[in-house]
Amino acid sequence: MSYSINRRKFLLTGAAAAGVATLWSPSLHAHSDDAVSSDIGKSKWDLDSPALCVDLDKMEQNIKTVHTALRGTGVGVRPHVKTHKCPAIAKMQVAAGAVGICTAKLSESEIMLNNGISNVLMTGVNVTTPKIQKAMALRKKHSGFIQAIDNPQNATDMQDAAKAADIVADVVVDINLIKRSGALPGAPALALAQMIDKMPNLKFRGILAYDGGVQHVSGYKKRKEQALKNFEAAVMSYDMMKAAGLNMEIFSGGGTGTYDIMLQVPGFTDVQVGSYLFMDCQYMQIGGAKNEAVFDDFAPSLTVMTTVINSNYPGRLITDSGSKSLTLNQPHAIVIGEPDFDYMPGSDEYGTITFEKSSKTYKVGDKLEVIVPHCDPVVNLYDFMYGIRNDKVESILPILARGKSQ
Ligand SMILES: Cc1ncc(COP(=O)(O)O)c(C=O)c1O
Repeated sequence: MSYSINRRKFLLTGAAAAGVATLWSPSLHAHSDDAVSSDIGKSKWDLDSPALCVDLDKMEQNIKTVHTALRGTGVGVRPHVKTHKCPAIAKMQVAAGAVGICTAKLSESEIMLNNGISNVLMTGVNVTTPKIQKAMALRKKHSGFIQAIDNPQNATDMQDAAKAADIVADVVVDINLIKRSGALPGAPALALAQMIDKMPNLKFRGILAYDGGVQHVSGYKKRKEQALKNFEAAVMSYDMMKAAGLNMEIFSGGGTGTYDIMLQVPGFTDVQVGSYLFMDCQYMQIGGAKNEAVFDDFAPSLTVMTTVINSNYPGRLITDSGSKSLTLNQPHAIVIGEPDFDYMPGSDEYGTITFEKSSKTYKVGDKLEVIVPHCDPVVNLYDFMYGIRNDKVESILPILARGKSQ
């Protein structure tokens, strides 16, 4: 009998179901929660590792920085929570004056809406029948849920589902800038917006346009030129819709790399900044308006504490944080205080550091703190992050939308 038949048989039996039930036993969760709570007050250097940590002073300052930069400009902040997936942090962003939040996925939106965030703009589209139905049920429960649409068939499907749910659902049209998502700019986007505007169970609220490619262009001047040039397609679509008398209350887009550039776009209402909160090695290297070498408008607040588990080889340290703790994203993680270290998270469970110079001689059990390569996918690997102030654990922040990729 082949493995696959055995496996299928197993999955069809009650034994499999019982196994799953055991794995998800609430008592196991309660136990691990207790263990984590006892870390409150500990130094971050005493945490068992890998431990995802956010420096609260730095994160709070990053939130303040973006609001200070945009205050009085007429452009609001609509943070993208795909970065942190944590309702507790979304609440801090809203308390600081965000006009709402953005989500990437429906399951992420559900977590945010069901955990006290009332104004959620989902920037990804829902195209499958189960998702459309679920999205409408969510909109029925939460009036502040706004969804993106980028094609006529999806508009028709959403209209039918909204009618069946007996609601009028709020939608924006996503405008294509990077051939990833979005309606084609200009006449096709206008036609879609007008089609939606005529649908009795959909309410057209405006547009969003995200240029993911330009966020990490190195050099502020180059980034600014490219961002504004690429965004012309969205501006043209906005102008056509406005001239056609459509409701253009939302014109959302931009990200951390362009948060201060989007201010120059006429009609633009809010920036969808995500990574500004944590920063990462990818963003630090692009340079900013004030510092061409390092993009330091925002401080790197997110780090992983890792432990040296082998120091047998000269010029080489092995840690307990590999790709399952830091991802394989480039550039490599930065070890704080050790500029000569190259951190390769090449193995699943092991990190390999190579160096010629180090500030001290490391031994097994020593801790290192690293800045993550790319914040969003790293956060998605952890159940919670430690909120750190003055190097001590002040709070535990559950990443409730972690793994919510549907
Ligand atoms: C649609 C959308 N908006 C905003 C963002 C946030 O971008 P950043 O993390 O560069 O600020 C992203 C990130 O991927 C995105 O996909």
